[in-house]
Amino acid sequence: MIEVAFISTDKIVSEIEETFIDNFHEIPTIVRAPSRVSFIGEHMDYNKGFILTSAINQALYVAIGPNEDSTVTKYIYLDAEEPNYEGDIHNLEKTNQKWPNYINGIVDQLVKKGSKISGFNCVIKGNIPAGSGMSMYAALECSIIFALNEVFELKMDKMAMALLAQKGENEFVGVHSGILNFFTIMFSKKNYAIQLDCRSMEYKYVHIRMDDYRIVVFDSGANRMSGVSEYNRKREAFEHAVGTIKKLHPHVDSMRDVTHGMLDNIIKPISEDTYLLCRYVVEELQRIQDACEDLTHSNLFAFGKKMFASHEALRTQLRASCAELDFLIDFVKNESGVIGARMMGAELGASTVNLIKERDIQDIIPRISQAFEKKMGRELKVYVYETGGGISQIQ
Ligand code: GLA
Repeated sequence: MIEVAFISTDKIVSEIEETFIDNFHEIPTIVRAPSRVSFIGEHMDYNKGFILTSAINQALYVAIGPNEDSTVTKYIYLDAEEPNYEGDIHNLEKTNQKWPNYINGIVDQLVKKGSKISGFNCVIKGNIPAGSGMSMYAALECSIIFALNEVFELKMDKMAMALLAQKGENEFVGVHSGILNFFTIMFSKKNYAIQLDCRSMEYKYVHIRMDDYRIVVFDSGANRMSGVSEYNRKREAFEHAVGTIKKLHPHVDSMRDVTHGMLDNIIKPISEDTYLLCRYVVEELQRIQDACEDLTHSNLFAFGKKMFASHEALRTQLRASCAELDFLIDFVKNESGVIGARMMGAELGASTVNLIKERDIQDIIPRISQAFEKKMGRELKVYVYETGGGISQIQ
């Protein structure tokens, strides 16, 4: 079944606005934060490499208003199983409800840095598929900091907000994620991919000429949650490798400074596993830069090849793929209408991102869906996207 990423923005916005007015009797500020795709460069952000990403036309919306005479917060997340949460900005504790933690991580950072905020109310709803590696929680975090910045006049710029959202997730939620999702959500522009140098934090927009190709995401439904500790473990392995290399090469501060020679001489004799992890980063670093050149020259075909090569490296070197994702990639590899595909996200599950010729989409989807269901005993979810703009206040 084809699920086209169709945003009935008006319906979502009127629903959150009405719910807000019914519950809090005021007109809210409303912020939209998009989902994203990552074309190439997983696990590069915290290794101070490059990322190449784009927001897409699917988003999460937050209606928000300050509660100036109190420190109480009331959140209503219309898509959640347990949609109501009430807390206090001076008494933040992790909850089993999970989603409020992402909001409270932001509040925690603002309180810690002494920002002048009071309690606030918010109502949330979106159409980003949950658990599919499409950054739904990062969209929630970004929308909250963006909205609070507006209503409390905090005067933070987008970069400061992206960094604060990342810190909130690292410290309060306990996932040691990099800047990829937050940055992409804050800075994207429609029809462009954005290349960020995660060391200098300089970035550039690269026009994507999609012509008759579309971005198609296959959501395998494989459980990503088990990947959180694996993600943190990989980060530690990289940090450890950098520490080991630094003893002999003091200028090395991150994987960005590491060369093949260093890996061969220092890491390989100690651990073959770590060696492969690190090789992934060194080689992907080059691949991203080449892929970016391809886009600049509107060579989508060459770009797609880098995506396939990146998946192979994620599978064999980083060991971040899984049977479901490999199945999806192997299936599309021999389809002439698919010029690029790779797994997307951190670890062991969720989705693949594909560049597919528009006229072939209707033909490929039923075949891959059937084959997937037969092999994995699970339905394949399919989304067709366009690139989209970054975060914005819509009311
Ligand atoms: C997760 C993290 C990101 C990034 C990716 C892997 O999504 O949140 O910061 O590291 O994994 O590329």
